[in-house]
Amino acid sequence: MNKLKLIGPFKQLIPMTGLSLKGAISDSELIIVEDAGILIEAGKIVAVEKFNELHRKNSQAETFRLQGDHVALPGFIDSHTHICFGGSRANDYAMRNSGKTYLEIAKAGGGIWDTVTQTRKASKDALVKSTMKLANRHLKNGTTTIEVKSGYGLSVDEELKMLRAIKEANDGTDADLAATCLAAHMLPKDFDGSAKEYLNKISSELFPILKREKLTNRIDAFIEESAFSESQIAPYFQKAKEMNFDITVHADQFSTNGSKVAVDFGAVSADHLEASTQKEIDLLAGSEVIATALPGASLGIGCGFTPARQLLDAGGALAIASDHNPGSAPMGDLLTQAAILGAFEKLSNAEVLAGITFRAAAALKLADRGQLAEGFLADLSIFHSSNYNEILYNQGNLKPCMVMKNGEMVYNKHK
Ligand code: NIG
Ligand code: FE
Repeated sequence: MNKLKLIGPFKQLIPMTGLSLKGAISDSELIIVEDAGILIEAGKIVAVEKFNELHRKNSQAETFRLQGDHVALPGFIDSHTHICFGGSRANDYAMRNSGKTYLEIAKAGGGIWDTVTQTRKASKDALVKSTMKLANRHLKNGTTTIEVKSGYGLSVDEELKMLRAIKEANDGTDADLAATCLAAHMLPKDFDGSAKEYLNKISSELFPILKREKLTNRIDAFIEESAFSESQIAPYFQKAKEMNFDITVHADQFSTNGSKVAVDFGAVSADHLEASTQKEIDLLAGSEVIATALPGASLGIGCGFTPARQLLDAGGALAIASDHNPGSAPMGDLLTQAAILGAFEKLSNAEVLAGITFRAAAALKLADRGQLAEGFLADLSIFHSSNYNEILYNQGNLKPCMVMKNGEMVYNKHK
């Protein structure tokens, strides 16, 4: 039988409820529940109310009583990562900082292709282990749901190896891993044929297996000079749509073409957008596509941030994700990066927190998380603090002291 659990009191609980999916949010719109408790049953939230009230009404509940001041937020959602990979690209990073550009390194055979070579050499079991290790690190830092892309296999068999590894890693970690197929990351250098032939092969041979083995329901593509053009991707996305996959796009990282494709195909999200101009900003803001900023990629490459302020002011929905990958975004610290983006782009704390909670949930079409309210998963990031503003103010240096996933305490600093 599933027992009732009560946790609290939290000095402040930020439920992230009642906020709009799109557009700017001011801090004054945030609901703050003081001296709050959360009643949980079967991994889900039954009620959020004053702790004393919940305790009085549910004296039979197993009570987890917190000592000292704590702030509760929804578990963070990182809607864009590449944490399944082999090897390291520390040398690329050094080369970039010595003056070579990301695209020059890619053209010279480094970049994504280097990671493909190293990932192909890794066994599935090794990938399961390394993915779990990174997922557990993110979980400890408060991220309870992590999207993970393939895209370093770039053949039917090697993409399958990655996606099966992600599925096994999901079974082995308390975090939820949401897989995405990124077989369209670049045209593999060893493919004997055109981009059209490669994409045809992937959609006709790999897509049906993804469905059959329930490996993912999401298809991503990198639209860029070094990867695929919009005309090459159109039939690929068309096929994906016909098979009822959700679409997401690596868009406008260096040049602007991807966001239009994302809007035309009704993608769930368009991610990167560092190069987006007012035209792309307005296009995205007028659509249902979630615009996802990846500050970790700007920090890794040393380029400007996604125009997050302009996207929000134009009425767009903004998620913020880490893009954790061995090349452009090696840091992999969502909270730090979201806080830094907030400082540079002048985002309210409410907008930053929305970007890593319910707006990120929308980018993954996960309607059961990202808010603390009845019926939602009991996924929590808990901080030792009396003021939620301390969290972003510390720019990632204030880590959660506890993390709860599906109503279970999966990390407790004091234990
Ligand atoms: O999101 N932009 C393309 N793909 C990844 C980078 C992958 C890599 O450099 O290995 C990104 O930044
Ligand atoms: Fe990416």
